[in-house]
Amino acid sequence: MQINPINDAIGARVDGIDLAAGFDDAAFAAMHRAWLDHCVLLFRGQTLTPKQLTAFAARFGPLEPPPASEKDLRDDAGSDDAKDMWIISNVIENGKAIGALGDGEAEWHSDMTYLDIPPTASVLYGHEVPPHGANTWFANMYQACEKMPADLRGAIGDRRALHNSSYTSAGELRKGMDAVMDVREAPGAVHPMVIQHPENGRDALFLGRRTNAYVKEMEVADSETLLDRLWDYCVGSDFTYAHEWQRGDVLIWDNRATLHRRDAFDPSHRRILWRCQISGTALPSAHAD
Ligand code: SIN
Repeated sequence: MQINPINDAIGARVDGIDLAAGFDDAAFAAMHRAWLDHCVLLFRGQTLTPKQLTAFAARFGPLEPPPASEKDLRDDAGSDDAKDMWIISNVIENGKAIGALGDGEAEWHSDMTYLDIPPTASVLYGHEVPPHGANTWFANMYQACEKMPADLRGAIGDRRALHNSSYTSAGELRKGMDAVMDVREAPGAVHPMVIQHPENGRDALFLGRRTNAYVKEMEVADSETLLDRLWDYCVGSDFTYAHEWQRGDVLIWDNRATLHRRDAFDPSHRRILWRCQISGTALPSAHAD
């Protein structure tokens, strides 16, 4: 197995391993170390069944069940072997979407941070991918902290923010949710804005997503100003990687230390990704400098 960084900012490519065949504990330890160090791992040219994909994901920890809003999609598209995975897709079959997120842009986010304990990691497998477009972008939130202007870091201090659960990253209101009229009252979870990574102790900016975010104990206008500054800083940054999909790619990312987004793509092209998530642990606050 060879592990090589993708760029200076984020991501490493792992070659010489067939995930379907499995691997020993020494290989897993090297992979896990690289995943913590580089935040995103890419395995190319894999051919996996749902059972093999979930077995790979489960090496990183217990799997998080698909969110309730995705269950009906999964039941239609999956089998027993796929009970711990769900589908990201724009494909419509018999008048019904077989997966989530369609073909539009998905905004920058970390997965399911509207939970008190968000997932540790997410895995995507390129079962069917378009010839171009639909790149998935990643940003390194350790570097976001390290490179942040001191005044911006000072403005965050040890503040906490509300991560709202009402909308998907594609901007759709989730089933059973109401539109948010007041960000202070929005449903979701509260997390430190800078966390101390539970496995390596590094500080990571933890923003979740911009839509309906709210910095606790602030006037709404001040919260909006601070969040706008932070998001402008992050999305204009040089600590990103844009992944161009090939069929058979597997990506696993550290959900605690990254943001990701997806480009829109041509709706006439089919895209089917299989996805698993690894259950999380509590996220401690970093100490303000
Ligand atoms: C996601 O946001 O988890 C999906 C990313 C993608 O469709 O590439």
